[in-house]
Amino acid sequence: MPVTVRSFAKINLGLRIGAPRADGFHELLTVYQTIGLHDIVHVSATRGTGIEIRCADPRVPRDESNTCFRIVEKATRVLGAKGRIVIEIDKRLPVQGGMGGASSNAVAVLLGLERALKKVLPAAEKLRIAAEVGSDLPLFLVGGTVLGVSRGEQVYPLQDLPAAACVVVTPEVGVSTPQAFAAWDRLCDAGREPAGLRPAGQPRAAVPTQSPNTSLAKLTVTGASDRMVGLSRALSAWLSEPYSGAPFGRGRAENPLLALVRAGIKNDFEEVVFPEYPELGEAKRALERAGAKYASLSGSGSTLYGLFASRQAAVRAAGKLRKQGWTAQATVTLTRRQYWKRIFG
Ligand code: C5P
Repeated sequence: MPVTVRSFAKINLGLRIGAPRADGFHELLTVYQTIGLHDIVHVSATRGTGIEIRCADPRVPRDESNTCFRIVEKATRVLGAKGRIVIEIDKRLPVQGGMGGASSNAVAVLLGLERALKKVLPAAEKLRIAAEVGSDLPLFLVGGTVLGVSRGEQVYPLQDLPAAACVVVTPEVGVSTPQAFAAWDRLCDAGREPAGLRPAGQPRAAVPTQSPNTSLAKLTVTGASDRMVGLSRALSAWLSEPYSGAPFGRGRAENPLLALVRAGIKNDFEEVVFPEYPELGEAKRALERAGAKYASLSGSGSTLYGLFASRQAAVRAAGKLRKQGWTAQATVTLTRRQYWKRIFG
């Protein structure tokens, strides 16, 4: 019998991009939040050898470029497990990106694999393997509201907050994450001139040429670290508010997640993604017009989400957005407890 696992999506409640690193990644500070939308994966271990991926969606690769394939390779090696591993992915999440679908699928497969093989990897080992496969896999080993630092792969559970209603909009646009990071670097190099997402060879706007070292120094010393500090202060103030003796602000009377997004967090990717894909900026404005208390791009997109005051308001807004031609779904954020309760449920 295959093991069935729900593979939940995430959104980013704020994301700050820091300095580029020598390993090709960027420093990052973000708050991940798991949500109720999900794919379903089935994992079975049979006689034979190899890894087989089955999925009706032709956009999902079946070879080692699939994160599920890579995580099984690594985990079976560490576990010394033999046999043929068959993975079936029932794709319900949009493949557009920003919701960590492929990363979540891989973690769900890892958890399913442990059950299928009746073997358990130590938690720290699972986190290590997940981080090797991609920066936003480890968050799915924590669930709920999660702080992500370093390149996003170092994760820390934040307070488990009550669920908040949200609407996810998924325009039919594919945004390349590496290109979005590169566009951010060009934007910083150019002194905040819109550079767009085009590769360096085809600049959209004139970008002053600088040596990589100069731009690195500029980012490290000024913009990059300031932005990271700004978000960390906002987060820290929000986290300590209930304990600091300060009178509860307007925020705490409402859902704490809404209080968090009011604390001044934002997603840096909006600055490079919206100029290149105006449709995504329009989707954010449509969410706001539909009553979102806060709307933002998730990750590097193309997913956008809005947080709403109530479930009814979210359902109404999703209906309204669909009538306007957007692909929109109402859902809820998942607390850590709900995430783990439902994952095998
Ligand atoms: O880790 P992941 O496979 O998701 O990263 C995809 C690409 O995104 C990396 O190869 C890198 O170009 C870029 N990236 C980055 N900084 C991060 C995370 C990802 O530059 N913190």
